[in-house]
This record gives sequence, C-alpha cells and structure tokens, in this order.
Amino acid sequence: MKAFRILTAGLAGLMIAASAHAAGGAAHPHEPEEGWPFEGVTGQFDQASLQRGYQVYQEICSSCHSMKLLSYRNLGDPGGPFYDPEYPNPNDNPFVKAIAAQNEILSPTPNDAGDFDFRPATPADTFRSPYPNDNAARAANGGAVPPDLSVIYKARHDGASYVYSLLSGYPDEEVYSERVVAEASDGGTPDDESDDTPAQVQTVIDASKLHIGHGDEHYEGYLIQNPGQYYNPYMPGDTVPQFEGDPRHAPPGGFLAMPPQLIAGRVEYSDGTEATVEQMAHDVAQFLAWAGEPKQTNRKSLGLAVMVYLGILTILLWFSYKRIWRNVEH
Ligand code: HEC
Repeated sequence: MKAFRILTAGLAGLMIAASAHAAGGAAHPHEPEEGWPFEGVTGQFDQASLQRGYQVYQEICSSCHSMKLLSYRNLGDPGGPFYDPEYPNPNDNPFVKAIAAQNEILSPTPNDAGDFDFRPATPADTFRSPYPNDNAARAANGGAVPPDLSVIYKARHDGASYVYSLLSGYPDEEVYSERVVAEASDGGTPDDESDDTPAQVQTVIDASKLHIGHGDEHYEGYLIQNPGQYYNPYMPGDTVPQFEGDPRHAPPGGFLAMPPQLIAGRVEYSDGTEATVEQMAHDVAQFLAWAGEPKQTNRKSLGLAVMVYLGILTILLWFSYKRIWRNVEH
C-alpha cells in the first residue's frame, strides 16, 4: 500500500512537471516530413544533402557564424559531404582543395617580414571565421554574438530538428505590419528640418495569423518586435512581456537577434535541387548534424559489425556450454 502511495505521488509529480513544461516555452521542434536519414541504428547521412547544406552554410551562415572545430579537410573525410573513395586522404581531394582555396584567411604564421598576410586556405586550415573576436561579432549583430555552429547540433535539444524548425519557422510575410507609436515632431523653426524627430515606427505581428508547426492553436492579439529582435516560435524565451493580448494565451517562443535568413531561391543549388525554405533548412540542419558528429558513419558501421560478432559468439557459447555440461546432472 505504501509503495503504491509513493508511486502515485511520484507519478503526480511527473505530471505536474510535464504540464509546467507544456505551458509557455518554445514550440516543439519538428523534423522534416521525410524524417532524418541519419537517425536509427543503421541510418546514414545523405551525401547530396550534406553537400547542399555546406553550400547553404558557406553562402549564407558563414558571414556571421564561425565553425572553429572544422577544417576544410574534414569535408573530405569518410562520411563527409565531399568524401571520394578515390582520395582516402582528403588533403589530396581536388574538390576539397578548391573549396578551401575559395576562402581567404589570415595566415596563422607570419611571413618573412613578420607580418600576417591573407592567403587562400588549404585543406589543413580551420574554417574561416567571420569576425576576429566576440566583440566585433557583437558590435555587428546588435549586441548578440552569433554562436559557433560546430557543435550546435549537440548543444541544443533535438539539434537537427531544432535548427530545421528555427530556420524555417519565422512567420510568413503577411503577419507583419508597422504602426506609428510617436508622430514626427517638428522642433524649432518651421523650415529647419535638421531638428525634426522622425516618426517612431514599431513592427507588430498579428498573432491571429500565426500558424505554428502542425498545431492549430489560435492566438488573439499583437506581438511587438523591438528593433533588432525577431520573433521565432522555436526560440526558447517568453513572449508575454511583448504580447498585447491575453497573457495566458501568448504565442510560444521568443525573440532573437538573427533576422530570417532563408528566402526561397536565396542559394542556387549546383545539383539543380529547388531551393525552397524547407529544403535549405533541411540541408543545412543535416550538414550541422554531420559537423557535430562527423564520425557517426564509422561508429554505426562498426557498431553493427560488433553486434553481429557478439550475436554469433553468443550462439557458439550457448552450444559449447550445452556440449560441455551434457553428461552432468543439474
Ligand atoms: C546576419 C548574421 C547572421 C546570419 C547570416 C545567420 N545568423 Fe544565425 N544567428 C545570428 C545571431 C546574431 C544569433 C544570436 C541570436 C540571439 O542570441 O539573439 C544567431 C543564432 C543562431 C542560432 C542559435 C539560436 C539559439 O538557440 O540560441 C542558430 C542555430 C543559428 N543562428 C543558425 C544559423 C544558420 C544555420 C544560418 C545560415 C542559414 C544562420 N544562422 C545565419 C546571426 C546570423
């Protein structure tokens, strides 16, 4: 009886914790409709998608986000986007060399005159960083440092689906509108325009037009976006302080300093795939998942071989056990 009581108390506690989690917070990240090819025991990365993902990172994200833990040569490692069995050593892979050389980096070693030059990167170099340091990054991004993306897949719960949902989850164009909060005022003499304060305009989001994930939840009211802050339903945060409406039914998510990045057709895929927002988000999320766990392919094939080996060993041991003890009464 006592055990039963402890059990029910425990369960009730869990349920309260679960419901507290459901209220507020961010929308639950979801995976693309076709799922992730690299999940499950035998799942592997889709190489074509990794290549497209690298293209998205290179052409869009790399202007703000570093990936300091990656070297260009990693792109040609087994399981990597540009792995080619003909070049087991990625340093020899001409494609990897060409990709590296597209990036000018500040040479880590001084030249003969003792200066640091810019030079094309080689496969041995780490990915080019967009800013020399965090302060420069902060200054260029309204006070927020764009995080390094090397291990973002591991640093966020449900990493690939989170990146996918975040990037493709900014609201559609039609929910935004502008409203004047302070009229333009004309200080001083009528024909002197230099001391006029401009009208203050605020960006607001009509929450009733939001469609978040696959949910059919309806919100009534307006979300106010401060300058340099962008609403995203998947960003952990709290929208209540900026919500004009019933605070108990505020939309999920929060605000971040990253403007929406993916607009259909922003990259032109070299393999001819149509660059929809979902496609780009899918590819770059898969690329970041690979970057966070580049040895997954090896680990899984080794893991499978070990399981098969152990299985066979178990069967053999079982039969030898039966054989050895066959004449012993037990
Ligand atoms: C114009 C600069 C800029 C570009 C381009 C950009 N980002 Fe960001 N990103 C930021 C900033 C700034 C932040 C930090 C936002 C904050 O914390 O408020 C951020 C944050 C993030 C985060 C972390 C959100 C979190 O959970 O904290 C992810 C993931 C991300 N960006 C992915 C990407 C990807 C993928 C691309 C390319 C498709 C990209 N970003 C392009 C500026 C940029």
